[in-house]
Amino acid sequence: MTTRPYYAEKGLSAAFYDTVTAADTRLEGDLDIYSRLAPAGGSILELGVGTGRLAFALAERGFTVVGVDIAPAMLAQAAAKQADLPATVAARVELKRGDMTALDLKKTFDLVICPYFTLAHVPRGMAWKNTFATASRHLRAGGLAAFHLPLVDIMRAPGPADSSRPVLNEPTPTGGRLQLFIRERIFREEFSRLDQTIDYVELDARGAVLRQSSERLTYYHTDPAPLAAPLGLTADRDPIPLGGVGEVHVFLKA
Ligand SMILES: C[S@@+](CC[C@H](N)C(=O)[O-])C[C@H]1O[C@@H](n2cnc3c(N)ncnc32)[C@H](O)[C@@H]1O
Repeated sequence: MTTRPYYAEKGLSAAFYDTVTAADTRLEGDLDIYSRLAPAGGSILELGVGTGRLAFALAERGFTVVGVDIAPAMLAQAAAKQADLPATVAARVELKRGDMTALDLKKTFDLVICPYFTLAHVPRGMAWKNTFATASRHLRAGGLAAFHLPLVDIMRAPGPADSSRPVLNEPTPTGGRLQLFIRERIFREEFSRLDQTIDYVELDARGAVLRQSSERLTYYHTDPAPLAAPLGLTADRDPIPLGGVGEVHVFLKA
């Protein structure tokens, strides 16, 4: 089996993103955290919008959202979901393909969010600095930026002792099952980088394998505050814990 990057075309991490996140209790409460950071009816830029899990829920709460993502496979799902929404909600979301490390929409927002470890997907250092520059460039004075990052101790934790046991075994929307296996999990201390190879296996209702894909997920970690400060983003409060595996760092644009 060849190994694909996460969220690649024809990959199962993209196809089953909503199935996996719906089962992930460690994300519970993130929508409320982001909702509280913007004024009622305010404007939000979401960096790494994915399939629109948060963007559409924020729009349902009355916010207007521009969602940017680098992966066509994720944006295609977001667009399909948007087409099925009530017109008033759908009209509050704009989806765009773009790279958060080099984005200039030439407009500002009340809030910039970078949820569910999206910043951790790009190398710490220049890519992080460029993403903070993007956030700063798109914020009005007094606006907030929120970055959800994994805890480094969770990244350091070893993988399951028995890699043949699925870490997730969920029903799929078509009546089958999705199973996830962590095939490899290595934390490289010198780079603060976690490399994981995760096997996705889709089974039909009788348990026969329909599709499988091996996918590579890398997370980077560092303290964001020293990188954000030179870009005009200062820590606004203590990081907000989320799900026991991460925290949301909130910065204020001066
Ligand atoms: C874990 S998903 C988060 C999706 C969504 N925000 C959520 O919370 O469900 C991470 C997303 O970030 C996107 N992404 C990764 N690097 C990116 C970059 N440089 N620019 C824009 N999007 C990026 C991926 O394609 C993926 O859709």
